[in-house]
Amino acid sequence: MHTPKPIIIGHRGAAGEAPENTLASFALALEQGAQAIELDIHITKDGEIVVCHDETLDRTTNGSGLICNQQWADIQRLDAGAWFSEKFKGERIPLLSEVFDLVPEGTLVNVEVKHAYEGRMEKALLAFLQEANRYEDVVVSSFDHKVIQRLKRAEPELKVGLLYAANLIDHAAYAKLLEVEVYSLHPHHHSFDRADMALATADGLAVYPYTVNELSDYQRMIEAGVTGIITDFPGRLKAYLNT
Ligand code: G3P
Ligand code: MG
Repeated sequence: MHTPKPIIIGHRGAAGEAPENTLASFALALEQGAQAIELDIHITKDGEIVVCHDETLDRTTNGSGLICNQQWADIQRLDAGAWFSEKFKGERIPLLSEVFDLVPEGTLVNVEVKHAYEGRMEKALLAFLQEANRYEDVVVSSFDHKVIQRLKRAEPELKVGLLYAANLIDHAAYAKLLEVEVYSLHPHHHSFDRADMALATADGLAVYPYTVNELSDYQRMIEAGVTGIITDFPGRLKAYLNT
């Protein structure tokens, strides 16, 4: 049987080769052949959705403190590239809308919700997505499965995915527990067996394991029949898939 190649999902863009979650990182991922990108979101004090992995600014910018305690006007001024390399000095934390402007329609954007912020994130994200009207191109995932359930209930058009690291007894059956339609499973790449993924794909679920960077792990994922691979090195995965 012919199994289609998994899609290449650039983790935080091309986080292995550019400062994660910046426009430079997303542009590089697309340039290297990623058909999708993954990014992480938080919300500022004044309600802007920004793209950053950590809830604080310390690791990836020249600022510090919690994102949710600061105004967008201040966060906007920070450097988010120099920590990675001098070459990327001047990169900023992008708004989610700026990433959507960069990514062409038809390229999947996997938006990972890091925190619920007492419901503020869901409200802001749903308003943003309604305005953007690109439901075809978006899948929202989170380790917080209650957030995912609420988002899907509030917006049935939205595609939602479950992010998790535990090796569940029955991955596909777990997805059914949510009692809303789940589009994709995003398991840690070490925490599932081939049989689990066969059951999931038979149920029509997409399977996007994270974060896979080694050639031997690419091979293991391909053999498991996953639908997409989340990687820090989209170019490396592209070259591997083409061999
Ligand atoms: O969405 C997959 C992956 O990004 C989840 O973990 O910590 O890299 O956001 P993390
Ligand atoms: Mg993430």
